[in-house]
This record gives sequence, C-alpha cells and structure tokens, in this order.
Amino acid sequence: MRFDDRLDPLLEEIAQRIRTCTKCPLAEGRTNTVPGEGPQHATMMLVGEAPGSAEDGSGRPFVGQSGKLLTETMASVGMERENVFITNIVKCKPPDNRDPQEKEIGACAPYVLSQMDSISPIVLVTLGNVSYDFFSTTFYLPKKQVGEVRGKVFRLHSTACKYLIPTYHPAAVIYNRKLLPDFKEDLKKAERYLKVQW
Ligand code: URA
Ligand code: SF4
Repeated sequence: MRFDDRLDPLLEEIAQRIRTCTKCPLAEGRTNTVPGEGPQHATMMLVGEAPGSAEDGSGRPFVGQSGKLLTETMASVGMERENVFITNIVKCKPPDNRDPQEKEIGACAPYVLSQMDSISPIVLVTLGNVSYDFFSTTFYLPKKQVGEVRGKVFRLHSTACKYLIPTYHPAAVIYNRKLLPDFKEDLKKAERYLKVQW
C-alpha cells in the first residue's frame, strides 16, 4: 500500500454527522450539538462527559464553570487550549445535568472513537469517571474509579493514540478544591508525555 492511499475521516465531516444526529433521545432536548473543537493535527485530546447548559447554548465544549477551571489549569502548566482537541463522550446535553445513560453512550461512542482515529493524538486525557469508564471498557484497562487511576499512564496498543492518562473532572475539582494539585500535576504529566519517545 502506498501511504498516500490513506484517507482519514476529517474532523469536520464527523462534526457534520453529529450536528444532524438523532441516534438517541438526547437529540430532543438539545439546543446545539457539541462536537468538540481543536486542530485536526492536535497531539493532545481531552475528553469530558457531556455538554452542560453553557455548552448546549454555544455549541462549544467546556465554556462554563468547569471550562473556566480547565482552561486556567491547562494554561498554568503550559498547555495551550488552542492546540488541544477538546470533546466529550456524548455530544448532546442530558436533561437536568444527569449522567449520560449507557444506551446514550453506546449510540454516541462511534463519534469520539472516529475523532480519535482522525486526529491520532499522542496523549488522550480522560476527565472524570464517565470518560475513563468508557475508554477503560474500550481498551481493556482496569475497571477502577478515577481516584484510583488518576495520573497513571496507560500505554495504548492502538495505532490511533499512544498514551491514555486519566484525571478528575474539573467539576469535581470545583466541588473539592483539595483535588486541584493532583489535577494540575496530571495535566502537567500529560504535557510531558507529548515529548516521550517510543
Ligand atoms: N462538563 C463536561 O463534561 N463537558 C463539557 O463540555 C462541560 C462540562
Ligand atoms: Fe447523536 Fe450523540 Fe446526540 Fe445522541 S448524544 S443524538 S448519539 S450526537
């Protein structure tokens, strides 16, 4: 095979599919879908849980309270938000801020996996339990709560991404400020792993 025969799905094509998606009941309650944002050739990908009200209103990920803390913490460790692809496991806001249900996650999962394939980031950071739970199922990682695995570095043997690093959800850090140093340390580690040779 010649390498220039390769045609990856482009992020914008995936986003267009998401914008018209009605594969699960969350389509009914949304104002906007939130496909995610960041460069096609990002080396870092961050995956949260689901859009909240601010994200639903704007169509952009992590722009509310959690987003503010996330963006500030990223900046404090030298991670530039505009170089990172940021998205969520589900692309439409669940009602009343409830967790996305298993069926909704199942219906939406192909999008986040295609985004990962399309980007081929070096490092993927999962934010919170919903995100870690999904990727740990997909890649056969330990079934643990985020508190037990945060800051660990899992080497993925997928061609799309080399390292998976779980950390807390920024909303958990807002709720419990004591988690902030660990959250910061995990993002710093993720940034360092961009430069690790394999
Ligand atoms: N919480 C998330 O998990 N994702 C967002 O985009 C905003 C808040
Ligand atoms: Fe489609 Fe995902 Fe939105 Fe459900 S949450 S309607 S699967 S984009």
